[in-house]
Amino acid sequence: MYNQPMLRDDALSGKTIIVTGGGTGLGRAMSTYFLKLGANVVITSRKLDVLEKAASEMETETGGKVLPLQCDVRNPDEIDAVLKASLARFETVNGLLNNAAGNFISPTERLSANAFSTIIDIVLKGTANCTMALGKHWIKEKQPGTILNIITTYAFTGSGYVVPSACAKGGVLAMTRSLAAEWGKYGIRNNAIAPGPFPTKGAWDRLLPGDMAKKFDFKNRVPLKRVGDHQELANLAAFLMSDFSGYINGEIITIDGGEWLQGAGQFNGLEMVTPEMWDMLEQMTRSAKGS
Ligand code: COA
Repeated sequence: MYNQPMLRDDALSGKTIIVTGGGTGLGRAMSTYFLKLGANVVITSRKLDVLEKAASEMETETGGKVLPLQCDVRNPDEIDAVLKASLARFETVNGLLNNAAGNFISPTERLSANAFSTIIDIVLKGTANCTMALGKHWIKEKQPGTILNIITTYAFTGSGYVVPSACAKGGVLAMTRSLAAEWGKYGIRNNAIAPGPFPTKGAWDRLLPGDMAKKFDFKNRVPLKRVGDHQELANLAAFLMSDFSGYINGEIITIDGGEWLQGAGQFNGLEMVTPEMWDMLEQMTRSAKGS
């Protein structure tokens, strides 16, 4: 059931949504569902050839309209150009999905200053660049708008070995809540999704090359004992982009099968204890109480 489309067919009809990093992986999965729900989608990334191929495949699959545009989110001029081209093609833009990201999995002491900055520039400043461009546009035109940020559960907890990403995503979390308060009066909603493990070929092969992916089996960390399905993330993203979520503003929705809480609860590791061991432990604690 969770891998089935959820919303009614016209849920995003007439809307134009810009999706950064929309040509591959989760960005593409969410964009494809937006198209099926009647939206026009502008997909951006640094690689125009990848985008153009993706756009034509997505149009064939959904019958929707996709505009592929090259854009590095680190460059505000390129983002302004994306907005201009999107308006020229579709007249209005209604939503922004800040999905583009970058990450190095590495001991922090092995990172150069430039490596740290690179991730902050893409994830935190890139999200800010796109958000500011769209926000300024909507405020000037007196139009409502919806911004949805993809963060991660380690934005709440922090995480070793991905420290620049954790810092940047924590910043995006703060931006989401801050702008929800500040821009609500303009009809601009800001929300975020914190996904747990949703495997994609690109990110997972790159981040966990070779045998690492097998050794580090994410589903064992998830109470529900499975990884996420792209459609269930797309369902949530489409709901948060749609007017059906019109009163949700400043919310961070976690979709991770309970993964981060599993890691947080002090006694959660006790799932390794067998029923026989529980019997023994119960006897021991009961007899200790009586003595
Ligand atoms: N581990 C540690 N440092 C690394 C690294 C790695 N795997 N790869 C690159 N760096 C360092 C570089 O050495 C450089 O630092 P230096 O100038 O001090 O030597 C710095 O990081 C920037 O590297 P560069 O290759 O110039 O960055 P870029 O801007 O061209 O690309 C990314 C950076 C993140 C965009 C690129 O690695 C990428 O496309 N990654 C895939 C996207 C991704 O990570 N997606 C996952 C989303 S969660």
